[in-house]
Amino acid sequence: MSREKQSVSRRRFLMGSAAFAVGAVATGVTSGIRPKNAVAAASSLPFPYQTLDVNTVRRRGYDYYFTGGCMYASARALLDTLVEVVGAPWDSIPADMFKFGKGGAINWGTLCGALNGSLAVIEIASGTAADSIGPELLGWYSKFPFPSSAHELYCKYPNQITTVADSPLCHQSVSLWCKVASATVNSPEKKDRCAKLAGDTAARAAELLNAWKAGTFAAAYQPDADFARCLPCHFGPTSRYDNEQGQLDCLECHTDKTTHHI
Ligand code: HEC
Ligand code: HEC
Repeated sequence: MSREKQSVSRRRFLMGSAAFAVGAVATGVTSGIRPKNAVAAASSLPFPYQTLDVNTVRRRGYDYYFTGGCMYASARALLDTLVEVVGAPWDSIPADMFKFGKGGAINWGTLCGALNGSLAVIEIASGTAADSIGPELLGWYSKFPFPSSAHELYCKYPNQITTVADSPLCHQSVSLWCKVASATVNSPEKKDRCAKLAGDTAARAAELLNAWKAGTFAAAYQPDADFARCLPCHFGPTSRYDNEQGQLDCLECHTDKTTHHI
């Protein structure tokens, strides 16, 4: 290398360092966070997955419900178990971020938080496979008689009445159960029910991920026949009209109009 070229590359190096120093301030290096960590935090998905003990996840989901609500409970049940079994990078996700999902997103009754938290971990663990594992969890949830009886030994209210929501929405799930159980939404009975449900849903997510990891995952959910027939006309890019978003049970909200408009 000529002397001139050497000095140019040295200058480039120094300029690079200066740029790094500026970047370092912007990314918080001065406050003690190493730039390596800043890069690691954005590491690409999926994170490595290993088979989890389903009942460990179920129990944790139940317990964590009482400290942060349903989304926090399901996400943290899976995350803690993954940190134990796999370790890094699973320990880089702050479980507190999932507290917003309680009551179907800060008590708005939309997507059940137990689903929301489980779906987040499914996405992180399985990447593109989440597009088939996730819908399976949503479909299973919609048809499952919650709460399961797997929490009888440690729960506060054993032998609770069960209901099938026919929906992944918190509003349907909670309101229907409260009606049938004659409980109010903020009663300890309902909280126990949702704690069990959070454990059940996280456990189901672990079961599905375990099957996916073992290469035995097979989607089994089928929409009920009474609204499955709506889908070819209204839902999806290859449907006849493609004018409706979602795979919720149509008849929960629309009356059966099929005979009127075909
Ligand atoms: C064979 C195709 C076809 C099927 C199957 C079908 N639809 Fe439709 N749907 C249409 C067409 C065409 C229109 C618009 C024309 C009309 O309203 O008559 C429509 C309109 C609608 C509308 C808006 C207008 C209204 O009448 O309120 C709703 C809501 C709807 N469908 C829901 C459903 C549901 C729920 C099902 C299943 C139970 C279903 N559709 C099954 C073709 C279909
Ligand atoms: C949670 C309630 C809910 C569910 C479940 C639901 N819808 Fe709707 N849907 C609505 C509402 C609210 C609108 C807004 C228009 C209205 O009030 O009819 C709408 C609008 C529509 C429209 C457009 C209507 C128009 O006048 O153009 C179609 C088509 C439709 N829904 C089909 C379906 C189908 C098919 C399903 C099942 C896959 C479904 N919906 C599930 C609540 C629901």
